Amino acid sequence: MSARVRDQAAGERKAGIASWMGTEPVPGEKLTTTQFVHCLINKGEQFLHCVEHNTNGVQAAHVIERLVSESIGERFLMSSFIAIITNKHNLPQALHQDQAIAPFQDMAAPYTCNTMFILDDMGPHNGGTLVVPGSHKLLSAPGTGQPLDTPLPPAINLSAPAGTVMIFEGRLLHGTGVNRSDAARTVLVMNSIKPFMHQQELHLFSAHSSILENASDKLLYRPGAMPTGLGGIEGAWNGDRIVGQRLTMEQGNYLAVGELSPHSSKQGLTQNFGYRHSEVGTRQAPYQPEGTDKNSTTF
Ligand SMILES: [Fe+2]
Repeated sequence: MSARVRDQAAGERKAGIASWMGTEPVPGEKLTTTQFVHCLINKGEQFLHCVEHNTNGVQAAHVIERLVSESIGERFLMSSFIAIITNKHNLPQALHQDQAIAPFQDMAAPYTCNTMFILDDMGPHNGGTLVVPGSHKLLSAPGTGQPLDTPLPPAINLSAPAGTVMIFEGRLLHGTGVNRSDAARTVLVMNSIKPFMHQQELHLFSAHSSILENASDKLLYRPGAMPTGLGGIEGAWNGDRIVGQRLTMEQGNYLAVGELSPHSSKQGLTQNFGYRHSEVGTRQAPYQPEGTDKNSTTF
């Protein structure tokens, strides 16, 4: 799993489609030093095993599935599954709750849960994930809008050997730490959610193309064609329009990024991936120092 994701990340850099995400660049640098690998299910059979909690790929799969089920219910959905690779001197990520997107604190129970597959030995030296122990209860106990009377304990870096899986719920304060080592540090993060806020009709798929082509921004926003953090395609989820992806899929011309490696053929690396034409892909196209194909146009 570790070898596959490293190879994939290197292949995406060489293909000119690396997704530099997560934090702002260090002052004076153009790029962040955090690389995301999106949509892992397209990038190796190993990752499918993670999704279906199959012991052929994940030794503790049944325990993991049980713990996530007990946290947020058995019918949970996979919200995202990405690799996060930090390199030397990445800026730390602000501490946050993953479910802070909801405008309330819920003492009763979490409704998101992360499964983090740790692929490198991790600790304070290489930016082990910062967590504030107990914050899931301390923050939610006073309730929405109430003052926090109890000081939060300081954040600690998660320390764990490669091969560990960390499961943490959506109310825990956490953030990526600073990698001070010379080696990249890789984790895979699968976010799972309760299914109750899923859209009943996927209008983005069912709408006729003529409606989408002529729609106002307001009409596009409602069915989720302008995602603001959730509901994107291959990492295009921060305010990007994803109508172009839908229309291109309908025409049979959308190519999702599949398995790549630095040893892929030039033809493989320069494929006309849909990501190249997404708004996020276009924004990041100038920042592909290892890329072999820098030509890109937006939808
Ligand atoms: Fe997070």
